[in-house]
Amino acid sequence: MSHAQKTPMTARRAASPLSGSVRVPGDKSISHRAVMLGGLAVGETRITGLLEGEDVLRTAAAMRALGATVTRHEDGAYTVSGRGIGGLAEPADVLDMGNSGTAARLLAGILAGHPLFAVMTGDASLRRRPMKRVIDPLSALGATFWAREGGRLPLAIKGAATPLPADYTVPVASAQVKSAVLLAGLSAPGISRVVEPTPTRDHTELMLRGFGATVEVAETKDGGREILLTGQPELTGRPVAVPADPSSAAFPAVAALIVPGSSVTLEGVGVNPLRAGLYTTLAEMGADIEILDERDEAGETVADLTVSSSPLMGVDVPASRAASMIDEFPILAVAAACASGTTRMRGLAELRVKESDRLAAIATGLAACGARVSIEGDDLLVHGTGEPPKGGATVETHMDHRIAMSFLVLGQVTAEPVRVDDGGFIDTSFPGFGALMRGLGASIEAA
Ligand code: S3P
Repeated sequence: MSHAQKTPMTARRAASPLSGSVRVPGDKSISHRAVMLGGLAVGETRITGLLEGEDVLRTAAAMRALGATVTRHEDGAYTVSGRGIGGLAEPADVLDMGNSGTAARLLAGILAGHPLFAVMTGDASLRRRPMKRVIDPLSALGATFWAREGGRLPLAIKGAATPLPADYTVPVASAQVKSAVLLAGLSAPGISRVVEPTPTRDHTELMLRGFGATVEVAETKDGGREILLTGQPELTGRPVAVPADPSSAAFPAVAALIVPGSSVTLEGVGVNPLRAGLYTTLAEMGADIEILDERDEAGETVADLTVSSSPLMGVDVPASRAASMIDEFPILAVAAACASGTTRMRGLAELRVKESDRLAAIATGLAACGARVSIEGDDLLVHGTGEPPKGGATVETHMDHRIAMSFLVLGQVTAEPVRVDDGGFIDTSFPGFGALMRGLGASIEAA
């Protein structure tokens, strides 16, 4: 799909409290991994609840181009028939990863362990994002890369038939980098060792185990994690039930918190502790969030969340929590703008290299809506007054789905409407966002 034309959207103050029980679409991180591991497994992987957002559809298209069979069935389930590790075929054309950093970086890891030539590109946002963070460790394992200045897409890769096992300490807190190295390690003989000083989402490790790989995880003495993966396993296709995405659930959750009188239930949300930082932070701010019926689904923990509107207070969010809520800072900043007192969010350097420079996009957008915001080093400070900001601005989203959704949520409580210049990218992670929010009572329209 092309985004040649922008799709402006407008949010107006909700006329009544939000209410209802909904299931947001499937987890984006888990969906990418299910399709990729399905393509590397022998046999069939049946995926229910797959996120049919553009990012994941790019991964599915890439895996098809590499020889896997990915089929959508009438009931919405997908099946993937894999080629086995090392069995992927050379793609006949350029792989276009669209807006998705996860698709591009994880696929680079898979390609690094296959002796084939491939070229990868993406949209204008993805072509600005740093790929050196995967090029460096994957080159050390034996893959060869050619990339634009600064390690940007498009890039070409010639993978290694037998990469070296990894022994790598991830220098930035990034699940994508960790996962890329582990995926390359699948093709290597012996044990790959990846150390992350800051723990990040562990969906790759959990799912690899589920598919039959041997993955051992130990805590390091300074609170990090050491992951040992035994190379050249035989992965076996298996069913994957994708939980509802906690990063998507964050938007209706914060809307319910800030629109007075609301109560919304979010069903089947993934509550993996390495993704749960937002919910911890909101609870510290005074949010009324009930976690109900916690259960295990295909190796991941899920629960139903009931969120009721609450007066919120500013808090100090430690840098050590940033990785567990890295995609949720835009919507947390919206909650903070409606809270009393200052919220300081520490250690946000990584936000500068997301789908947009999110630190700048949040600060500029909130200021345009009348909130008081400042950036100190890598910290974002939002100074709440206890009343919502006035709104009445058009916010630039810079091809970033989460910036668009965050400001459309803010518009539910501002006196004047909040407009976003382009809601088209919302479909990358949350198809049906507008309709789902309207079903709860929100006022969000194209225009
Ligand atoms: C993701 C990891 C995070 C996150 C992204 C999804 C993943 O990126 O922001 O949306 O699925 O591994 P980084 O690895 O860049 O932190």
